[in-house]
Amino acid sequence: AVNYTQAVRGQFFDITQPSDDPAAIAEHARYLEDGLLLIEDGHIVGLYNWSEGRKLLRSTDDVADYRGKLIVPGFVDTHLHYPQTEMIGAWGEQLLSWLETYTFPAERQFENEAHAIQMSAFFLNQLLSNGTTTALVFGTVHPQSVDALFSVAWQLGMRMIAGKVMMDRNAPDYLTETPEQSEQQTRELITRWHKKGRLNYALTPRFAPTSSPELLAVVERLRTEFPDTWLQTHLSENTQEVEWVKSLWPEQKNYLGVYDSYHLTGRRSVFAHAIHLDDDEWNCLQRTESAVAFCPTSNLFLGSGLFNLQRCQQQRVRIGMGTDVGAGTTFSMLRTLGEAYKVAQLQSFRLSACEAFYYATLGGAYALDLDNCIGNFMPGKEADFVVLDPQATPLQRLRDSHCRDIYERLFVLMTLGDDRNIWQTWVNGRAVWSRDECEVAA
Ligand code: GUN
Ligand code: ZN
Repeated sequence: AVNYTQAVRGQFFDITQPSDDPAAIAEHARYLEDGLLLIEDGHIVGLYNWSEGRKLLRSTDDVADYRGKLIVPGFVDTHLHYPQTEMIGAWGEQLLSWLETYTFPAERQFENEAHAIQMSAFFLNQLLSNGTTTALVFGTVHPQSVDALFSVAWQLGMRMIAGKVMMDRNAPDYLTETPEQSEQQTRELITRWHKKGRLNYALTPRFAPTSSPELLAVVERLRTEFPDTWLQTHLSENTQEVEWVKSLWPEQKNYLGVYDSYHLTGRRSVFAHAIHLDDDEWNCLQRTESAVAFCPTSNLFLGSGLFNLQRCQQQRVRIGMGTDVGAGTTFSMLRTLGEAYKVAQLQSFRLSACEAFYYATLGGAYALDLDNCIGNFMPGKEADFVVLDPQATPLQRLRDSHCRDIYERLFVLMTLGDDRNIWQTWVNGRAVWSRDECEVAA
């Protein structure tokens, strides 16, 4: 007999191990038509076929029964900005003028702690209602923005990585700091939050244009002092931005070279966008085991360009999906996968449903160097998962009834799906969001 505190029955899909080789992803796919997941104290005991697993049950009375639903690991969002929630979908600008016009004024509000707490609660609820259980998140330059986010994530028991934006030039005075302030405030936040339960800290220099050489030297020093922290920033998103970086750092051979020269590349470094890269930059990402966040809705919305997924796969660079709210236009990982497919299509490349769901789950966890604790249903993993309803609308019901296998079903979910398909979201072995309650509350 095995010990367990929860038993969940339904259809299950996951990828059992990470791989840099896209051809190997499907080899490790697992689909159970009628499965049983056993959980003990927030961790997975095992995933079994019902016919076998039922023998492990003390009784069948306390099984959470989701037959007809599809259960997948919780989604991992490897890039977004919680303070931009309130300005999502802002009209008419590309990156640099979008930052000036909409983003900086919105981020200014987070000086106010009450606002930061209110928005943190709203933001985390958006993640959960979209099936996202782990995210790598930007705050603002204000340390209280990160205190607020971590406090609320802590109460929910979510695995979350976040950091205070560091920036000391080329931004409004009200959002800039000195390298000394940045260092001190970041160090305090690391001490307070890094490795507190499921919370982790990410050093967060916004991007090269808003960083002086002194500021990047601070980031480098903190990374040496706290080598198990994460690092998140932006890389080569927009061609004007790339030109600007060249003019600000003429001595560097390319954009990534700026970060690399301060040793900010490596495992646990996540570079958002990575659209306009040269061969040397691709090689550097690979050599240093850095990860990139593919943010299709943002890249299309801001007209930034098309991420080269094929090249990234060939190069064996770790890939996570990012919604990049508020430049991205949705919190939904399903919609983000659907747009990723279209971005690949525009380059005559095909993203399979299996790969797509891998990037949204275990692949994202691997990109964040968290694949030892989340991303699938292997024993010992943290029990974060989402119960999907593949038939949430009349059109989906019709279309789903014509699906012949799991991959077709997954593909239709990423093409037609959104938050309506999220039936329940579990964090740490607990249902923390459910559609019933949401509808009752609404
Ligand atoms: N580059 C620097 N800051 C940002 C930001 O907030 N959003 C996006 N999409 N790109 C950036
Ligand atoms: Zn971003």
